[in-house]
Amino acid sequence: MVLDCTTINAAGHLCIGGCDTTELAAAYGTPLYVMDESTIRTALRQYKASLNENYPNGGAVAFASKACCFKEMYRILQQEGCRADVVSAGEIHTALQAGFPAEHLYFHGNAKTDRDLQTALEAGIGRIVVDNESELYRLDEMAGRAGKCAEIYLRITPGVDAHTHQFIRTGQIDSKFGITLENGDVLRVIGDVLKLEHVALKGLHCHIGSQIFEADPFVYTVQIMLQLMADVRDRFGVTLTELDLGGGFGIRYKESDTPLNCGDYMRTVSSAALECAEKLRLPFPFLVIEPGRSVVAPAGLTLYTVEHVKKIPDVRTYVNVDGGMADNPRYILYQAPYTLMLANRADAAAEGPVTVAGCCCESGDLIQENVWLPACERGDLIAVLATGAYNYAMASHYNRLPNPPVVFVNNGQARVVVRRESYDDLLRNDV
Ligand code: LLP
Repeated sequence: MVLDCTTINAAGHLCIGGCDTTELAAAYGTPLYVMDESTIRTALRQYKASLNENYPNGGAVAFASKACCFKEMYRILQQEGCRADVVSAGEIHTALQAGFPAEHLYFHGNAKTDRDLQTALEAGIGRIVVDNESELYRLDEMAGRAGKCAEIYLRITPGVDAHTHQFIRTGQIDSKFGITLENGDVLRVIGDVLKLEHVALKGLHCHIGSQIFEADPFVYTVQIMLQLMADVRDRFGVTLTELDLGGGFGIRYKESDTPLNCGDYMRTVSSAALECAEKLRLPFPFLVIEPGRSVVAPAGLTLYTVEHVKKIPDVRTYVNVDGGMADNPRYILYQAPYTLMLANRADAAAEGPVTVAGCCCESGDLIQENVWLPACERGDLIAVLATGAYNYAMASHYNRLPNPPVVFVNNGQARVVVRRESYDDLLRNDV
């Protein structure tokens, strides 16, 4: 099975977290996001354990909120002793409303507004990850006015090309993010930062991309970043003590995908960090990682009801379902691969390739093309696997579709953590 948390029961129904998906669909309706809580907790624990086992100087797992953001996620993170990265005042608000400690938040963003920075200063966000010089000077001035000193990282673009889909590559030189290492900007900016009174440079941050399968790009990145920390020491006599390597660890969407598990990623990254720091005679920095997708994607699936099957002889068969690009825009954006199953006859033999299409008024609103499924008919239940990341978080209201609920399952129990939007919710801000 593509997802470890799924099984098929004696009735031939797909189950997740010990719950029968046909019963979940009947109880909560479709489209429905379902997430297995223990898969999320296990991933967080594995990341923490492998950091602690392989890295002597400690570190933090800061879950990338953008992958999946609602209050219950922050409660789980807090219970598991994890931190979080946030990229907007909306994510900060969600975290704080869930009772998450502001000092355990890392605030990113390449276009932070004054209001964003004000929110972060007032909340006492742990680290503001400064992306560019304009932000730096604005923050220094605002912190000065508030009588505060903001603890910051600088986001560096280390020039590592991590061979993934170009839209989700953020580490190479042509990037809207961060301060570019390759053109020599970084040391000049760091020199300027060190002169400022109301920001304290605690460390450096980078993020090289997403859905990366190999450990090598992370190893190069660690080496580049530690070399930079050594250059800062040699040039300015300042030893930075924290290094944030971002996220990007890949997951299995298709049976043929072979990502490393989080323990393997961390063993490789930690030992590269140790070896390199020793060589450069740097104290081991406090290491922060920001996994998003790898924590939540393998915990989730989406359930849809088949509304109509349209067969076009010699062309293709469309299986039209009751959700689509509004709850999962990843196929229309990136042609993202997914594994699909017929959840109510999960043990039936596949009959032929079909295109599973969404319900939005847009021809490109497809969930997946050329998928082998058993023959489907109206009323069948389709499961799209590994949708726990960047699905709910990227949902829209296109065609005025209310967002589906998120149901957590755990050892046969189910509970709603985000309610289904009502039609009145959609009118909330209409005047
Ligand atoms: N840290 C930073 C600064 C990031 O920009 C990201 C993701 C992460 C951590 C988490 O990366 P992850 O472990 O989830 O790969 N919407 C796209 C993914 C965009 C990722 C952007 N940054 C998708 O659906 O594939």
